[in-house]
Amino acid sequence: MVTNRTFTMIKPDAVANGHIGAILDDIIKGGFKIVAMKYIQLSPEKAGEFYAVHKERGFYGELVSFMSSGPIVAAILEKDNAIEDFRKLIGATNPADAAEGTIRNKYAKSIDANAVHGSDSDENAQIEGSFYFTAFERF
Ligand code: PPS
Repeated sequence: MVTNRTFTMIKPDAVANGHIGAILDDIIKGGFKIVAMKYIQLSPEKAGEFYAVHKERGFYGELVSFMSSGPIVAAILEKDNAIEDFRKLIGATNPADAAEGTIRNKYAKSIDANAVHGSDSDENAQIEGSFYFTAFERF
């Protein structure tokens, strides 16, 4: 398994609010290389599949409906210590708790519309990247 990669999505709120360019700029300045990237809108079915791990949680329905409400940018990123460093760059899940200067602190408004996703483990980065990109696209 490749362990220096993470997977991210720029979520519908950040896309709709015109933050794609600024967020990609922060990602690149943060030392990440973009390995693969696509602009896409998830159907509710595909969003439900992506977030199936959270289906017992109270917010699952809201999360699925939000994530399929508009286009997103999905990308695989590479850097040493990618998982941990990317989660530092984006800040806490709830933007109210996100450190100053982090992507969620700058561009997110609420816990449900929190601008970006970042994988929480090498294993999930691999699974999530494979959900969006074929082996050919993510080589
Ligand atoms: S994390 O970052 O994965 O540890 O956070 P977690 O709390 O486990 O949340 C998992 C994803 O669910 C989203 N989330 C919510 N969506 C809607 N409403 C509420 N209240 C809510 N709480 C958490 C959160 O943004 C995570 O989405 P991803 O895409 O994994 O970042």
